[in-house]
Amino acid sequence: MIRIGNVVIPGRISLSPMAGISDSPTRRICRQFGAAFSYTEFVNTDELIHRAPKSMKLLRYESDERPITFQIFGNRLENIVQAAEIIQELKPDIIDLNMGCSTRNVSLRGAGAGLLRRPVYAGRIIEEIKKKVSVPVTAKIRIGWDSQSRNYSEVAKILEESGAAAITVHGRTKEMAYTGLADWEAIGEVKARAKIPIFGNGDIASFEEANRKLQTYGLDGVLIGRSAIGNPWIFSPISKRELSWEEIRAVLLQHARWMIDEFGEEFGLVLFRKHLVKYLSGLEFDPQWKSALLEIREWNRFEDLLLSDKRKPLTLTI
Ligand SMILES: Cc1cc2nc3c(=O)[nH]c(=O)nc-3n(C[C@H](O)[C@H](O)[C@H](O)COP(=O)(O)O)c2cc1C
Repeated sequence: MIRIGNVVIPGRISLSPMAGISDSPTRRICRQFGAAFSYTEFVNTDELIHRAPKSMKLLRYESDERPITFQIFGNRLENIVQAAEIIQELKPDIIDLNMGCSTRNVSLRGAGAGLLRRPVYAGRIIEEIKKKVSVPVTAKIRIGWDSQSRNYSEVAKILEESGAAAITVHGRTKEMAYTGLADWEAIGEVKARAKIPIFGNGDIASFEEANRKLQTYGLDGVLIGRSAIGNPWIFSPISKRELSWEEIRAVLLQHARWMIDEFGEEFGLVLFRKHLVKYLSGLEFDPQWKSALLEIREWNRFEDLLLSDKRKPLTLTI
């Protein structure tokens, strides 16, 4: 059993935080199939300090999601610390500092992966958050800004010395964004030197691969992002390939229902499309049926069309 600070993490494989994807319904579906803990989407600390409703809503969660990590980002120590103090009211189990976001408008202003260029400052942020909150504080990093500055060893050392309770390492540089392959040797190096739990992340495409990575690199845990979209079974030994359409459909309907509970009927279904496309991928359907399904904004029509027996998948190509 691993622990992040005093928080017991019941498993080794979890859902990676993904803005626009890893909302409460999605996290719950993944937990249901074995994801070890929950990680919110990243939330802007410049907005949290004003308790902006949109940002606070990103931190809503259900009790069956625990342990839950709130992920925050920003470039100003005072705002990050103040935001961490505010969100404690919502009783997260862990607070995580995003040091990996590669998008220009985040990283170029020194937030997200921008903090990799100022590791001492990032360390101070961790220290100062720790003074104000009672939960463990962690960080999620990339291996460097670009191929010339792969400073993951230095960053991990500073964060650990600053009191980070765990670190997740996505094995790409900021410059790589999502191209190329994650460097798992670098992740393994961080693990070999660290005394705190280290989570590895990048490109895991199956439950078996997750377990291989855990073993090969002696990691405390791994996170799965993109391959978990529309495939919550990835957190368990069950392979989506072995499931019937009826079984896939039952989970998809549950997920869609929870999206509607969270976001309302129309917006919930619109947001669900990203997931739906992935649930359906690998299954070959009548293209007209599929595009009609992806357009629907009313629950009854959505359910009726999904349950219409005439529309069985033609072939399974996963
Ligand atoms: C759409 C999308 C949104 C993401 N949002 C976040 C985020 O809010 N916080 C974060 O730390 N990482 C974020 N990431 C990065 C993922 O957590 C993960 O590190 C990355 O996708 C590599 O893992 P994977 O290959 O398993 O997807 C995001 C990735 C994607 C694809």
